[in-house]
Amino acid sequence: MSDPAVLLGERFRAAIVSAFGPEYASVDPAIRPSSHADFQANAALGLAKVLKRAPRDVATAIVMHLDSEGVVESTELAGPGFINIRLTSALLSDEVARVSAGGTAGLAPAALVERVVIDYSSPNVAKEMHVGHLRSSVIGDALARVIEAVGHTVIRQNHLGDWGTPFGMLIEHLLDGGNEADAHSIRDLNVFYQAARAKFDAEPAFADRARGRVVLLQGGDEATLVLWRQLVSASRVHFNALYRLLGVTLQDEDIAGESLFNPMLAEVIAELEAKGQCVENDGAKCVFVPGYTGRDDTPLPLIAQKQDGGYGYATTDLAAIRYRLQTLAATRILYVVGAPQTQHLAMIRDAAIHAGWLTPPARAEHVAFGSVLGSDGKVLRTRAGDNVRLIELLEEGVLRATAVVAEKNPELAPDERAAIGRAIGIGAIKYADLSSDRVKDYVFDWARMLAFEGNTGPYLQYAHARICSILRKANEKVDPSAVQIIAPQERALALALLAYPTVVSDVAASLAPHRLCGYLYELATAFSAFYQNCPVLKAATPEERRSRLALSAVTATVLARGLGLLGIEAPEKM
Ligand code: ARG
Repeated sequence: MSDPAVLLGERFRAAIVSAFGPEYASVDPAIRPSSHADFQANAALGLAKVLKRAPRDVATAIVMHLDSEGVVESTELAGPGFINIRLTSALLSDEVARVSAGGTAGLAPAALVERVVIDYSSPNVAKEMHVGHLRSSVIGDALARVIEAVGHTVIRQNHLGDWGTPFGMLIEHLLDGGNEADAHSIRDLNVFYQAARAKFDAEPAFADRARGRVVLLQGGDEATLVLWRQLVSASRVHFNALYRLLGVTLQDEDIAGESLFNPMLAEVIAELEAKGQCVENDGAKCVFVPGYTGRDDTPLPLIAQKQDGGYGYATTDLAAIRYRLQTLAATRILYVVGAPQTQHLAMIRDAAIHAGWLTPPARAEHVAFGSVLGSDGKVLRTRAGDNVRLIELLEEGVLRATAVVAEKNPELAPDERAAIGRAIGIGAIKYADLSSDRVKDYVFDWARMLAFEGNTGPYLQYAHARICSILRKANEKVDPSAVQIIAPQERALALALLAYPTVVSDVAASLAPHRLCGYLYELATAFSAFYQNCPVLKAATPEERRSRLALSAVTATVLARGLGLLGIEAPEKM
């Protein structure tokens, strides 16, 4: 449990019941953080209206019935009927000790374990990942870690774009290259893709071959499949290199690309036809989802099968949602996909509800995100106007961070400097992405994300490394049960530490990683204030030193755990 707000909630709920009767058992005691006290309970204001009594009288009655034993040191009535609460120091120190004992920094397993499918990253084969895929990979991975940490089962699904008409031209181009254009020689996926595209547009004979090749691929021609697999595996090598550099947990077994669903498409359409939900329209098979209209107000369909018999993106997503519900037994599906696909994903969800596949309590949510903008406020591009390649962006971040590290700490050994530069550079990019409200666009700004002040990755990593250095200098065994809460900054730090589990479960529910970032920044700030006012290594007495060392150690643990949930490393030295 460890978050005192939870404990206070229980005590105040009981007080309300004993003051006013069991019919008030479900009243929210409204325990909130307070700038005047440790917490405040705001329930009296709402209750007063229901009871038709003065709010201050209601507050007084609640306090009279409150069991404060071991939890509440004192209360004070404030304003129209707020109850300010000061916790006992013993509770705070006990709970801080408990945070470090459990090995989970106080996280308790969720009451109801869900099976959460997270569709993220999902790049397209034979195309280089670009910054748009950065957001999906970084946000999706943070959510996967957070949701797992609160005890749910997470099933990662990398919905690779590995099927469809472009593979006709890609395979023909691979063949044209002869032996040297095998899987290993595709160094630059974009160059390869663009060359195939250019040939397709310029040479009618090549275009014909490409179209014929699509038919062979869809017909399951073995020789064609061999070539297709080469393309997929060449791309996978690129993607995996990026995931490892980026510190994203996706593995080969998480790949569930569009091709996986190919054998299910005909069956899915047949089922929808039998249910009367898929109908012929202009020679195409369409799923009309109630409530969606296009321009000029005509009903907007999902195209299940095109006039030429081909299947598309929507068909695959229909099969995928059915598979996730029926085969993977998901109770929650998250699509970490950019905002432009909002309508498509809403239609897929509603079609699944209509088909009876998606039924409560199972649910599907679009975890949308905005664009990454350049300093000119437009979607981030290279000077030449191309999409920025993700790998180049990451490498630049590592170079810049390594230069900063070399300057700040010239004594580091070269391999140490490289490892730390990498952790800071990648961490800065990820943190900049995660700390902004995900649905909004954000401006990509090296100077800001690499700053050692403010709500940045490097600031938090530095706060952590500084505590590690204090602990190294102290060179004594840390005893969490030695914590004593005396100074106000110690109290504030303890309260910040104990809020961690609630913040993490809130992020798992709200899917808003920036709240975890904001929390970690406040924790680091609380530590700074503590460190300035409460000498640790030069504490006045051995007990004080032991207590403050323990508080420092628990802070380092929570900072490292929190950064870990964001997928960001916390080096012990910087
Ligand atoms: N491959 C797609 C793209 O790059 C993203 C796929 C998202 N997932 C899905 N189930 N549609 O835009």
